[in-house]
Amino acid sequence: MRLADRVALVTGGSRGIGRAIAIAFASEGANVAFVYARNAEAAGEVVREIESRGREALAVQADVRDFSACREVVDRVVERWQRLDILVNNAGIIRDKLFLQMEEADWRDVIETNLIGAMNFSRVAAEIMLKQRFGKIINVSSVAGAYGGKGQVNYAASKGGLNAFTRALATELAARNITVNAIAPGLIETEMSEAVRNLLGGEIRKLVPLRRAGKPEDVAELAVFLASPAADYITGQVFTIDGGLSLGGIR
Ligand SMILES: NC(=O)c1ccc[n+]([C@@H]2O[C@H](COP(=O)([O-])OP(=O)(O)OC[C@H]3O[C@@H](n4cnc5c(N)ncnc54)[C@H](OP(=O)(O)O)[C@@H]3O)[C@@H](O)[C@H]2O)c1
Repeated sequence: MRLADRVALVTGGSRGIGRAIAIAFASEGANVAFVYARNAEAAGEVVREIESRGREALAVQADVRDFSACREVVDRVVERWQRLDILVNNAGIIRDKLFLQMEEADWRDVIETNLIGAMNFSRVAAEIMLKQRFGKIINVSSVAGAYGGKGQVNYAASKGGLNAFTRALATELAARNITVNAIAPGLIETEMSEAVRNLLGGEIRKLVPLRRAGKPEDVAELAVFLASPAADYITGQVFTIDGGLSLGGIR
């Protein structure tokens, strides 16, 4: 098992990519805490999936935008397991529309959730990881962070910021054996991308060289690798996982 007895915390673990990461971590031997915003039923299902793999689970309803709530979550994790080895900043939202149709809340909500949320959790988790002299922080970014397009200026800015945050934080924490990396997925089959996937329909096969949308499990495999000892010498990197979408080659 690649994550035997590790303690992980995944934000946005109730659905989509975060759910797949939480379950994959448990399958690899980690005890997993996760944060969700509203969907308690979905969170309960993830708890059952983790426990069915013989690992312990802790689901906490909290808003990643609220710094003191993030501190309370990390306190609960440490109270329960006395450590925190892996943090995955995955919670995210979209509010897609053309810039001139956006209201202030459309960029505030997106940046506060996708970027500030990751900073909040990283800040409190890093305190624990510094004392442990060990930690893995994984930020779930997006190809939009480098190749943002129409209707996503708020989202692209949040993910571009997250990529920059990843690189800069990696330099600060490396001396204490803490790695910080990001995953930049393309089009992945979750509720978040449903509208875009419906709009694109069969065009997805033309846009994506590997001719399909990704699955949350594809992304989870990369997260497991980055959290595992195999990635101990990798830090400050942004890994694209998009079936070749960002290459823009095949049509
Ligand atoms: N799907 C894609 O194609 C794609 C592509 C590139 C990048 N990404 C990134 O991957 C990450 C996960 O996306 P997804 O597609 O899995 O999304 P999703 O299916 O919509 O799930 C979002 C998750 O985030 C949680 N969440 C949202 N706002 C929160 C907040 N303020 N505080 C705490 N939790 C919050 C949700 O909790 P509830 O269940 O309680 O609502 C849910 O668990 C995001 O950062 C997204 O930007 C996704």
